[in-house]
Amino acid sequence: MSGDIWDSHAGWWQRQFTDGVDPEYQDQILPLVDDLTLGFDKILDVGCGEGQVTRSLSTKPSQVVGVDPSWRQVLKAQERSSGETYVQASAALLPFETEAFDAAIACLVFEHITEMSEAIAEVARILKPGGRFVFLLNHPLLQTPGSGWVEDYTSETPSQYWRIGQYLVEQETIEEVELGVKISFVHRPLSVYLNSLAESGLILKRMLEPAPPESFLERNDAYRSARNIPRLLVLVCEKQ
Ligand SMILES: C[S@@+](CC[C@H](N)C(=O)[O-])C[C@H]1O[C@@H](n2cnc3c(N)ncnc32)[C@H](O)[C@@H]1O
Repeated sequence: MSGDIWDSHAGWWQRQFTDGVDPEYQDQILPLVDDLTLGFDKILDVGCGEGQVTRSLSTKPSQVVGVDPSWRQVLKAQERSSGETYVQASAALLPFETEAFDAAIACLVFEHITEMSEAIAEVARILKPGGRFVFLLNHPLLQTPGSGWVEDYTSETPSQYWRIGQYLVEQETIEEVELGVKISFVHRPLSVYLNSLAESGLILKRMLEPAPPESFLERNDAYRSARNIPRLLVLVCEKQ
């Protein structure tokens, strides 16, 4: 289902967020993921989209595989490939042998997956013991649907704060991100992700909450007041 949505809107994603046009990817996500996968040989990028994360890794391209259920994303990834391999598949049923990879990445993907625990179990299955999972999410606490910067001038002492939405409610929402482009997002509390990772034998080693990069704030001035509210959460896990 989410593969179909992403197939219909592959062009929107590719135009707005890839090929160097998005400052958060360029200045934060791509260097961070590369840094966190350095030294690992065989790497799988789960939900690779058109392959921008896969392509940017320092690991030899022949050792890197990207997988995505959307044909239009996979075809674009193959067209832009510099030697990596791309395969069409869902994270919930990965067409790879058990313990085939040294590291796996999922970058802003699990927010679009309904079969979350099956997909995490699959990531654990294809990793070797001691393998690394680099897991990037829109920050589940601070970017809960309904969150945002509030400037409240209704009382004598005006206040400004970051409002948190209904954090504990697991829910799927459809957002119209651009006229005619409706994308589904699944919100889950952080504990749901961490418990699912632990149940699959993926143990948290590091957690990063980077501030938005300056280049993002330059383009999104409205976020400047909230510059100390992270947009991104990065979990670095190790397969037991
Ligand atoms: C926000 S894009 C991120 C793409 C890429 N990881 C990146 O950072 O450039 C989300 C991607 O998740 C993919 N996706 C949706 N459902 C999926 C599933 N069940 N398994 C794997 N990927 C999925 C979509 O096709 C889309 O390419």
